[in-house]
Formats: sequence, structure tokens, C-alpha cells
Amino acid sequence: MKKLVVIGSGIAGLVAAVEASRTHEVVLVTKSVLAESNTHYAQGGIAAVTSTEDSIAEHVADTLAAGADYCYEPAVRVLCEDGPARINDLVNFGVEFDRNPDGTDWALGLEAAHSHARILHAGGDTTGADISNALVRAVRTVAADIHEHTFVSDIVLGSAGQVVGVELIDAAGKHVIECDAVILASGGAGQLYRHTTNPAVTTGDGVAAAFRAGAELADVEFYQFHPTALAVPGSFLISEAVRGEGAVLLNKRGERFMQKLHPLAELAPRDVVARGIQSEMLAQGGQPVLLDATGLGAEFLAKRFPSISAATKAYGLDWGRTPIPVTPAAHYWMGGVATDIFGRTSVPGLFAVGEVACTGAHGANRLASNSLLESIVFSHRAVSVLNESWPKEASAVRFNEQGILAEIELADPSSRTAADGATAVVDRVELQTLMWDNVGLARSGELLSSTRHELARWRPAAAENRLFTDWEDANLLVLATAVTEAALARTESRGGHFRLDYPATNPLMAKPITIVRKAR
Ligand code: SIN
Repeated sequence: MKKLVVIGSGIAGLVAAVEASRTHEVVLVTKSVLAESNTHYAQGGIAAVTSTEDSIAEHVADTLAAGADYCYEPAVRVLCEDGPARINDLVNFGVEFDRNPDGTDWALGLEAAHSHARILHAGGDTTGADISNALVRAVRTVAADIHEHTFVSDIVLGSAGQVVGVELIDAAGKHVIECDAVILASGGAGQLYRHTTNPAVTTGDGVAAAFRAGAELADVEFYQFHPTALAVPGSFLISEAVRGEGAVLLNKRGERFMQKLHPLAELAPRDVVARGIQSEMLAQGGQPVLLDATGLGAEFLAKRFPSISAATKAYGLDWGRTPIPVTPAAHYWMGGVATDIFGRTSVPGLFAVGEVACTGAHGANRLASNSLLESIVFSHRAVSVLNESWPKEASAVRFNEQGILAEIELADPSSRTAADGATAVVDRVELQTLMWDNVGLARSGELLSSTRHELARWRPAAAENRLFTDWEDANLLVLATAVTEAALARTESRGGHFRLDYPATNPLMAKPITIVRKAR
């Protein structure tokens, strides 16, 4: 039997491990415990066409529109067409999606930029936790060799440049597991930013390891900021579904402001709402704006959004009676390891699925609740081709079709030493603050150039002394540098990438920027 290593235990990794265990010897590696992942914290739900009033064509059209004329359409089609079958898989894994009061049909929520209510949810607003719990149960029943609290420091390549193993660090130290293929499903990198809705594990380790292994990255300049995180330490997510149910945004004078910015007002695409909030906050001296859900009634809020109700209460807020303070926070990375529509990267034997990957399905701005869907759709597709020979083109198929705006060759920042002129060891809080202030919701050539300069001063801690967090910091340095370089190269505004000095979208720039490691 061939051996597969799956890295990550969110929805993408768990599905891959369960499905691949039918044909492969599977090793599942995760940095924390199985249940700790971005998936676990997803509230709103998972988008898919399950109603006869909706259609795949409309789901495709909504995804393309939110993606700011930049999606890779074949990936969008696969995402939307495969969606309903993958929802059935989740039901078979034991996920109980909420139903309408008469118990017949699923209760479908509405979120921003969707033309239909099509968001399946579970436990009201605990969709991610319900999915994660069902899949953790499933993975424990299959014959997978599970390694928790294990950090993947590198992908090991053979002489022909193909995957032959992974280098791991656990309580026993560093060791290598040999394998025939790797599915990277290690999630995003919200920890690049000072304010994020993502948990502490999201340090982009998979993207950085793939980069070091020579895999091509794409679209890394496109970062999505969720418009409504609770304006308290920890940036607790207030689901878009709350606005979908009718909550509105108010400035400090109690006026709605989104209506004058977009015809869909509070339900405009995420990048539009997030920037609308940011400019309103700037105009009111940095104070957060307010989300007014009082019109929905305390009883409805407690039933439909139990976890948000509990969290707001814990912060001393009574959202059934009083509007709550909200602010944007880093939420989702559209960019990542470039793949084809089967999760295959430019390195033979290395697959990437879920947020770690970039299929082009989300374009420059992901449509709400398409991320859990993407994870399960592309994870399933990757497993379906595990036994096939590796195509010559793999991730290049998209670039051959769309063309490339720029290919950036980047010297690996995680191998820098003091001898390279990097005078200080990277400091995570400083890096996150720099990224938030300069490479966040609004960027400019000046801010990005000064960030490039700052990042170049930093090096990782010496490899022989590194703790887990030092390995993570080394990876964050790689990714911060990649995002900054790509953001400098994209001299236009589009979706999650907004340049103060180039505020217009340039139709001629609707092409990916790729990043590859510079050979030493
Ligand atoms: C939310 O519940 O607002 C988050 C859903 C998503 O990011 O797709």
C-alpha cells in the first residue's frame, strides 16, 4: 500500500485522511489537537445549492462577482457543481444541519453577495464545530496513524524533485517520515495580522514549507478582512449571517452608512463592507462602528446565534438590547500554494487543499461560506487522483490560460542569518503590527516599501535553538515578505487588495502574480 501524509486537521485534512484511508496507508499530522483548526470556529456555515429555487449557475455567478473579475472559472464551476454531493458526504459523516421548524427542508441562511439563501448551518452558529466533531469521530474509526502536537518543519524531496517525506518536530525531537505523497491541508495565516478572527495555530506553516520545497505560490496579495469582529481583544467573529438576518451597521451618530456605498448596503461583498467600516472608523477617531441586531429580538438571537450570544454576554454586552462595537479583522487568505483543480501543486507528489491552497476559485475576494465548501470539494478531488501519474502541467494550467502579471523570485527569508545583514530576530507582535498598519485593508507604495525594508532587517532564531513558536515566526517572516512583495507588484486595487495610490481596478491586470523561491 502506498503511504500518504496528510498535514492539518481542519475539514480539508480530516476528509482527506478518512477518504484516502480506503486505498492508502495514512499518517495524519496536526500541530495541536485534532479538533483545533480554523474550521472549528466557523460560524455562518457552508454554501451550496440544495434548494430547487436556487441554481448552480447562480452560485457560480455570485462567486465570480464577489471575486472581483479575477476568479479562475474552471475552479469556480467545480466548486459549485461538486458542492451538493459533498454536502451529502457531510450528512453521511453525521453532520446534522439545521432544519426549518416543520423539519422537512434545511434552514438556509443568507450572507453577503449571495443572490439566494443557500448557507447550510448547524447548531445555529456552531457549524464549524459540528462538522469538525463529526469528522474527528470519523477519522478515529479509520486506520490512520494520528500525530497530534507535531510540527511539520519541511517537505523532503527526492533527487528528481518529487516528494519523498516530511520532516517533523515533536516531543521526541526532529525526525522524518517517508511517504509517496503529501496532502497539505494546514490552513491559512491569520496570525500575520495584529487583529484576526483566526485561532493561534494559523501561522501559514504549510504555505511556507511548500515555498521552501520550491512550490509556486499565487495570489498572496489578496487577504480578506472580515467586516465584523467584536471590537474586544481576541477579535471574536460576529458572523455575516447576523447581517443576513437583518442586522445593520451604524456610525457613532447612530446613522447607517453602507447604503450610500453600495446598493447591497450591509450585504455588499466583504471587501466593500470592511473598507466602508474602516473609513467610517477613521472619520470617528478610530472608534469602532456598531452592529445593531436589536431589531431581531433577544429570543431569536439566542436561538439562531447561541455561541455569539454567549460570547457577547461574556464581554458584558447585551446585543438583544444594545448595538455592539465591531471592527474588521484578518479572516481568510485567498492566496496560497498554487494548485490545479485536483489540488496538485508544481511539486510532484505535493497536494494542497483548503485555505493553504490557491485554486483561483475565490478570485480576489472569497464569497462568504465558500471556504468550508472549497475544503471538502478539493480534498475529495485530490484523493480521487492519488493513484494517477503526475501531470506535467499541474498548477501551470491556470497560468497558461490566464497569463501571469509577474513572477517574483524570492530569496528564502527563513534561511537568513546575521551574515545577510539581518540585524534582529523576528518579533511576532512587531511583525503583526507592521502587517496590520501597512499591508492591511489599505496599502500604498510608500507603506509597502517601508515594510519591505523593515522585514529585511529580521532573521529567524537560530535553527538549533528554536521552539515551536520560533519555527512559526520563521514561517510568518516568509509569508509577510511574500505578501508585501506581491502587494507592491500589483499596482491596482481589486477585491481584498486595495492600494491608496492605485484605487482603480485595471482590467489589464486581471492576471495572477506568482512567487517562487530563488535558487541559492
Ligand atoms: C461568517 O460567519 O461570517 C464567516 C463565514 C465565512 O467566512 O465564510
